[in-house]
Amino acid sequence: MPKIQEHAVIVDHREVAERTYLMRLKSPGIAREASPGQFVMARVAKGLDPLLRRPLSFHRIFAESGTIELLYRIVGKGTLCLSKCLPGSGIDLVGPLGNGFTLPDRRDLSPVAFVAGGIGIAPLCELIVRLALTGAAAKPDRIHLFYGARTAAELLPAEYFERWGIRVHSSTDDGSFGYHGYVTRLIEEFSVAEDFRPGAIYACGPLDMQFHVAKWALAQNIPAELSLESLMACGIGACLGCALPSAHPGDPAADHYVHVCKDGPIFSPGAIQWQKMQTHRLPPPIFPCD
Ligand code: FES
Repeated sequence: MPKIQEHAVIVDHREVAERTYLMRLKSPGIAREASPGQFVMARVAKGLDPLLRRPLSFHRIFAESGTIELLYRIVGKGTLCLSKCLPGSGIDLVGPLGNGFTLPDRRDLSPVAFVAGGIGIAPLCELIVRLALTGAAAKPDRIHLFYGARTAAELLPAEYFERWGIRVHSSTDDGSFGYHGYVTRLIEEFSVAEDFRPGAIYACGPLDMQFHVAKWALAQNIPAELSLESLMACGIGACLGCALPSAHPGDPAADHYVHVCKDGPIFSPGAIQWQKMQTHRLPPPIFPCD
């Protein structure tokens, strides 16, 4: 798939939740090639500070109008710079990069679960909408979004997804909206209470959350695709900064790494050696998955 460097023009840019911005850009070349789950590397300042581009996933893709939407949260200097860009100004983008999500087989009518933690909602939205547009959302309770954040102000409104026929289950760490607790607990408890067993899981969020989603999916033998985050400097496999421990294809005892930018960012739960990462701060899942 061709990588395109394009001068994209900001069409709209606004804060849609606490420290969370939605930027719509005219970027016809990239919009034409992009698919859900991929990302761009964005130059966030005209000068050299900050020097490095920032990875931003596609939130929405409108190939026909040649526009894309990027949803991001201010987490540092780069995204703070980005938040100050005004409509009419331009940003240099390189993309689309990485692999993408795989849509479930159209013939499979089992429920689909999306799990988002905080800004992890960003890459899931385009996939959710595409799945809904296949007619999947016409069947009640087919598409479930489990969407957690630290506090209510960080959540996008549920109506944003409900208009597509999605059933939204919200959670907040501080209990200010929805279920009080982690989104991983919410999906585990819901699955027990409602005898809910999705045919596929798609997730994006902090690594701690992904670790538990991965364990749960593996224990339940449910196919899952996880969009993983890592520090990225180049986005094209050159700097090796985004490496995560993975299973060696030929020797299980050997060290092996995958690169989130080049091999991902979408991975199956079994592709990552979770026990080699620091992802053990959450309480254990309800299910005995070890
Ligand atoms: Fe440089 Fe992945 S960001 S190798």
